[in-house]
Amino acid sequence: MTERDFVLNEFSKNLEGGKYSWSSPSNIALVKYWGKKENQIPANPSISFTLDACKTNTTITLSKKKTNTDFSFEVYLDGQQKDDFKPKIISFFSRIVTYVPFIKEYHFKIETINTFPHSSGIASSASGMSALALCIMSIEKELTNDISDMYFYKKASFLARLGSGSACRSIEGELIVWGHHDKIEGSSDLFGTKYPLETHSNFKNFHDTILLVDKGEKQVSSSVGHNLMHDHPYAEKRFSQANNNLSRLISVFKDGDLSTFIEIVESEALTLHAMMMTSIPYYILMKPNTLEIINKIWKFRKESGLHICFTLDAGANVHVLYPEDESEVIYEFIKSELVANCQNGHYICDRIGFGAKQLPI
Ligand code: PMV
Repeated sequence: MTERDFVLNEFSKNLEGGKYSWSSPSNIALVKYWGKKENQIPANPSISFTLDACKTNTTITLSKKKTNTDFSFEVYLDGQQKDDFKPKIISFFSRIVTYVPFIKEYHFKIETINTFPHSSGIASSASGMSALALCIMSIEKELTNDISDMYFYKKASFLARLGSGSACRSIEGELIVWGHHDKIEGSSDLFGTKYPLETHSNFKNFHDTILLVDKGEKQVSSSVGHNLMHDHPYAEKRFSQANNNLSRLISVFKDGDLSTFIEIVESEALTLHAMMMTSIPYYILMKPNTLEIINKIWKFRKESGLHICFTLDAGANVHVLYPEDESEVIYEFIKSELVANCQNGHYICDRIGFGAKQLPI
């Protein structure tokens, strides 16, 4: 498929008063997306677990357009008007208007809530942008009547990507690939697709306990970080390493090889942060407690022989990953040893999930 396949040309119905609502999850990357080309095209393919508990619920209500501007909308978080969200939404709408021109025809009331605390340091861009993209696709579906489920989800992912790259991996579950990879049929730079190959039962119901180490705003945003990969001395090596790690994961998923899974996932997390530390300007998003937790996980893994590991996104929080079979003992360890390193003892119990759901109106 190409970008042109996602352009909607004709629509006629009047949908004033229409209401559309979706709940969309966050996701955690195993092979990381870090560095992009123009139009949110990733520099390397990535793969993620879709999460289950960390979600954004968004409702859009359409009414008659109130202004002459290109886009007319109001936005609320937890019932409070949030004008500071507007620039991000305007830039999202400007990027997608070619594909969904009807967004210029209505006034949008956008109401959104997150199931995780706002100041948790967990980025809501993946769940937020994917929920918004899905509501927009529900509008398109009503305008056109005849779109298949496959097209609906592909285009929702395509639109979400233009809002925030990793958001395109939040539409479906459980394992999602984004970015073309020679060995993964159907993989595309334009949207996320379900991982199509065999997956061992060891990866069913995988747990992700998110340890909230630092709930503040990040000092350096992801978009600045992506940009610093241009002219980065290790960029090309990093992109080919990510490709190679994804190739290696194919046999790991097939065979249920948890030891190699751990090696790849932890190396990906540390490489992501190594890229930040070796950018110019350089920066560090990990905190002392991030390292404390990592060391405790390594010690416990060595002593217990259990398959606990960590990953990080672009922040200080630690995602602790472990299989269902070993979850009781590992969860006890997390509570007794790791929660002490969380800010105010806060953490979120999440696990692999099945993707976004339409909400009843
Ligand atoms: O989607 P963005 O632009 O916020 O970038 C997300 C990048 C990481 O979370 C660090 C990695 C990933 O693949 O999700």
